[in-house]
Amino acid sequence: MGINSKPVVFAVLSAAVILVGTIVTVFIPMFMPSTQPVSKFVKPYTAVELEGRDIYIREGCNNCHTQTVRPLRTEVLRYGEYSKPEEFAYDRPFLWGSRRTGPDLNRIGGKYPDSWHYRHMQSPQGMFEKSNMPPYGWLAENPLDTGYSVKKIKVLQYGYSEKEVLAQIEEYKAKVTAMDYDSKDTRDQVTPAALRGGLTEMDAMIAYLQKLGRDVKNLEAAQ
Ligand code: HEC
Repeated sequence: MGINSKPVVFAVLSAAVILVGTIVTVFIPMFMPSTQPVSKFVKPYTAVELEGRDIYIREGCNNCHTQTVRPLRTEVLRYGEYSKPEEFAYDRPFLWGSRRTGPDLNRIGGKYPDSWHYRHMQSPQGMFEKSNMPPYGWLAENPLDTGYSVKKIKVLQYGYSEKEVLAQIEEYKAKVTAMDYDSKDTRDQVTPAALRGGLTEMDAMIAYLQKLGRDVKNLEAAQ
């Protein structure tokens, strides 16, 4: 009488074997530092970047855009250095995505000036006739709600104090509303006059896009 003729014993033993296998290959690595690399170059999102990220999630940009450059020659040539695990240390949740309707955005930071993004968000078709990306010009008509920024940063454990969070918001506001902001003209074109003096959802979105991959470019420059 082999074990094959004892279904209950067999089921119990196979469950035990699978359980041990799962613990060893999934749960133990989950808590090992080597699977959670951190880099001093990769900084947590600032409050404004985080708000932009939340709008990115709200609008489902990740349904058309991935944020992972795969280590394939074609992708590295197109987007730049492939994605590294430490880049996602502060991504909760991560936005790797799976549908590549639009280009990957993991290296978009610094690729274009802010003015390009204002214009593109307002009308993708105005720049690329055949683009199937929807226009998001109305993001500039929504003032940015920073009411929960302090709380969000705290929950995500980014380590900024309340004072720092408020300073980040003021600093970014000062940047985009300055008379000598390099993208002032385009921002003024897309933003209703009444909202130009404050931050809009569009401003936060662009702050977020400009952050993507920027840390890695700094890391490469330092190597
Ligand atoms: C229906 C699919 C779709 C959605 C949804 C979408 N996009 Fe796009 N996106 C595209 C396509 C296609 C392109 C390439 C053509 C173009 O630039 O318009 C693109 C291009 C871009 C680019 C320029 C990339 C580059 O390297 O030139 C950025 C930045 C971008 N999208 C951001 C966003 C953001 C932010 C959102 C959400 C607010 C969003 N997209 C939503 C399809 C989409």
